[in-house]
Amino acid sequence: MLKTNFLDVELSNPLMNASGVHCMTTEELDELAGSAAGAFVTKTATRDYREGNPEPRYYDTALGSINSMGLPNNGLDYYLDYVIKRQKEGAKLQFLSVTGMSYEENISLLKKIQESEYEGVTEFNLSCPNVPGKPQIAYDFELTEKLLSEVFTFFTKPIGVKLPPYFDIAHFDEMARILNKFPLTYVNSVNSVGNGLYIDLDKEQVVIKPKGGFGGLGGEYIKPTALANVRAFRERLNPSIKIIGTGGVINGRDVFEHILCGADLVQVGTTLHKEGVAVFSRLAEELQEVMKEKGYKSLDDFRGKLKVI
Ligand code: DHB
Repeated sequence: MLKTNFLDVELSNPLMNASGVHCMTTEELDELAGSAAGAFVTKTATRDYREGNPEPRYYDTALGSINSMGLPNNGLDYYLDYVIKRQKEGAKLQFLSVTGMSYEENISLLKKIQESEYEGVTEFNLSCPNVPGKPQIAYDFELTEKLLSEVFTFFTKPIGVKLPPYFDIAHFDEMARILNKFPLTYVNSVNSVGNGLYIDLDKEQVVIKPKGGFGGLGGEYIKPTALANVRAFRERLNPSIKIIGTGGVINGRDVFEHILCGADLVQVGTTLHKEGVAVFSRLAEELQEVMKEKGYKSLDDFRGKLKVI
């Protein structure tokens, strides 16, 4: 009932982790690979190992989470070795997330992936909000276009981009116009809502240490923003560009709503962090329940079919 195809690979369901959650080490990645998730993505890798920001840097709130991790990761080689090893063992569809700390690093990371044996999907993260002094690439439209123009002079493997949320119709229009120029496999909307501030009222204090307490928001807070971005891009992007919907998935109804807005796959961040990998079987069961109630037999029966009034 939940089966779905992505790049001609049949997945048992459309669920994945969102990059950053439960995907830093090979142990965590093995757990994802062995879970009920249809696919998984690695922690966003930079060229070199990074320690990330000082702790506490992730905090669960009643309605979601706030984080300023600062890109802690084991470096590209660690994740590339992992996905190539699994590929040789027969893994069919994997997602490798990367971002550079500079324009040149972005190009050299993608060249390395292009020249490697890796045949899976690359998720090019244009939206990390948590590195002090480094603005998000995808809020700079000119830079995004320049960077993607250069990437597609040499990159021929499947690649998608992870975007931040946009809040203005003109920005949906402009970003979609840029993305439609390129043979992207997919667009992933949204990364965290950047630089919120959560306060512990008793202590009259922030809850995470980096950046004076400012951090990316996830969870229930962000579902309407996530759905708006999925819907807006589905209405604007070439049909050949798939959409991964991310943001505010707490239960099966949320997964249904993302797919109704046009998502091909749906990623889970904050709720995976709260519940662990058992979340995927719960969400799959709940999604099936919603579909049964409504009389739907496959995801194609309702994908992208949100009604307007
Ligand atoms: C981090 C956060 C993000 O939202 C992202 O896309 C990449 C990295 C982080 O703080 O580690």
